Amino acid sequence: MSHIVIIGGHGQIALKLAPLLKERGDSVTSLIRNPEHAADVEAAGARPVVVDVEHASTEELTAALSGADAVVWSAGAGGKGGAQRTYAVDRDAAIRSMDAAHAAGVRRYVMVSFNGSRSPLQIPKDHPLYDYAVAKLAADTHLVGTELEWTILGPGTLSDEPAADTVRVTPLGEGVSPDTSRGTVAKVAAAVLDQPATIRRVIPFVDGSTPITEAVADVPEEYSDIA
Ligand SMILES: NC(=O)c1ccc[n+]([C@@H]2O[C@H](COP(=O)([O-])OP(=O)(O)OC[C@H]3O[C@@H](n4cnc5c(N)ncnc54)[C@H](OP(=O)(O)O)[C@@H]3O)[C@@H](O)[C@H]2O)c1
Repeated sequence: MSHIVIIGGHGQIALKLAPLLKERGDSVTSLIRNPEHAADVEAAGARPVVVDVEHASTEELTAALSGADAVVWSAGAGGKGGAQRTYAVDRDAAIRSMDAAHAAGVRRYVMVSFNGSRSPLQIPKDHPLYDYAVAKLAADTHLVGTELEWTILGPGTLSDEPAADTVRVTPLGEGVSPDTSRGTVAKVAAAVLDQPATIRRVIPFVDGSTPITEAVADVPEEYSDIA
């Protein structure tokens, strides 16, 4: 049994991940921004703790992560609040949470990133998701440089299709549909927490037909060369 802290605990992926962890015997604490979301988080099997990660200091985050065995980052500004908030949450708060995990002695850190998080970014400067992509890559690059036992998940375009027990591990490209079910992302996050072979691996993936445990066990090392 592990104690997992999910950052962004009221997110759609997070609310699907918490019950998976609870069902297998882990205990889950979910950090949420809005106290009104506490009941939803409890219903998903997690203990809600109100921490606005955008405004929390590294020391406050360290206290919130203290005692955890693993952290899952699944928060995001979601494009609300413009570029400034995107950088404040998706980059700066994420980086503080990594530093806090290290300070709290939490070794394992799983980042929910996006499929195209590698340099050089394949996204033009005038694209609406450009700042998001820059922010996520900066956070991922910081994580890769830490001593944490990290795994970076790179789903494609998120959908609300039913969760599957299968995926396709691949960067996006010609002939690759970007669709990725949020429920499947939750299953992948639960699987990698249990699979040491995923430590220090970037796992780009979309919906597909390979069983998750098999797909994440043997991810090409070259995908982790993101900087
Ligand atoms: N959308 C896509 O197609 C796509 C593709 C690939 C990867 N991703 C990644 O997938 C992840 C989550 O996806 P999702 O569908 O679960 O998103 P979501 O439902 O928007 O969840 C994000 C959560 O982050 C929380 N959050 C935002 N600011 C916060 C703060 N200051 N303190 C604490 N929590 C905060 C939000 O809380 P509130 O509800 O209170 O605002 C929300 O619950 C993100 O990391 C995103 O980068 C998205």
